[in-house]
Amino acid sequence: MSAHQQTAASPFIRACRGESVPHTPVWFMRQAGRSLPEYLKVREGVPMLESCMRPELVTEITLQPVRRHGVDAAVYFSDIVVPLKAIGIDLDIKPGVGPVVADPVRTRADLARLRPLEPDDVSYVTEAVGMLTAELGATPLIGFTGAPFTLASYLIEGGPSRTYEHTKAMMYGEPELWADLVDRLADIAAAFLTVQIEAGASAVQVFDSWAGALAPADYRRYAMPASAKVFDAAAGYGVPRIHFGVGTGELLGLMGEAGADVVGVDWRVPLDEAARRVGPGKALQGNLDPAVLFAPTAAVETKAQEVLDAAAAAGTGHVFNLGHGVMPNTPPDALTRLVDFVHRATAV
Ligand code: CP3
Repeated sequence: MSAHQQTAASPFIRACRGESVPHTPVWFMRQAGRSLPEYLKVREGVPMLESCMRPELVTEITLQPVRRHGVDAAVYFSDIVVPLKAIGIDLDIKPGVGPVVADPVRTRADLARLRPLEPDDVSYVTEAVGMLTAELGATPLIGFTGAPFTLASYLIEGGPSRTYEHTKAMMYGEPELWADLVDRLADIAAAFLTVQIEAGASAVQVFDSWAGALAPADYRRYAMPASAKVFDAAAGYGVPRIHFGVGTGELLGLMGEAGADVVGVDWRVPLDEAARRVGPGKALQGNLDPAVLFAPTAAVETKAQEVLDAAAAAGTGHVFNLGHGVMPNTPPDALTRLVDFVHRATAV
């Protein structure tokens, strides 16, 4: 039986499809990583990007939160910039900073550096996904990619940014260059997702983490066509496609329209309101404020119940998650208790 068939009856896949579930499924963005002492231990002395290229290490790190928290899905341990590194872009992930690109992409001549991604460029991904699906059995593995806009922002700025000044200067000032850049990134992102799906990932998430920097009309014109190309490339496989961004309350309808089956929502918009913005026929994922996990258990449970009540009012499929990634200092036990709470509170 294929990995896709083995996971089809899982609560996570059923919720993504809006089907009935025995309990609301839970996973956390950044569930693997610095919140876990066992992660810090295996990463000792191994740079972030190197850890993404070692299949045994990827497998171990991906499985750690599944073992510890009993989450309903695993998320493949990698980073959104891995496919860019794999085609030869000179970049690094600096601890406490994020991705840093040695020579930012700013001109038409720079586009030549963005060659297509071939499956052989990321053979370690194929290998690790194969090892993971064998270990995970009926627990789904979520593959992911960065969306073209968010990837472009790192390439153009040369690193993380609050203002996206160079990105927007190109977008508004040289719209044809911008369109060609995000189109190339769409092909790279689509190829990276396809590798993960063909190796056995049961669902995929497109992270457009920084799309919230755009007004809806600009998102529609400058970001959505390239994102839609990524969603279209994954459509034929029949695996649920999740679309996530931060500060994207005004974009939720468009993010669904780009081709998602599930729309991720940060903590700023309650899920019943999100459902109105997204429209019928799509599931929702979210949306507990990650900072709530620093509060006492009773407060965490009150806030989690509010999320569950809003999801029930939304009347759509619901995958419980945080509104953004787990923060590095989050107490791991708070996450384990939260998984247990959501399972108990929604058991039928
Ligand atoms: O558990 C998981 O969610 C899977 C692993 C994962 C990582 N990065 C591992 C990682 C995923 C899904 C990502 C995606 C990613 N990477 C995004 C989109 C998600 C989001 O948070 O919005 C973005 C914007 C990046 C770029 C990036 N990589 C940032 C901003 C950082 C943090 C820099 C820092 O040190 O604060 C990284 C590094 C990174 N990616 C780490 C991990 C576990 C930390 C590096 C370490 O542990 O040494």
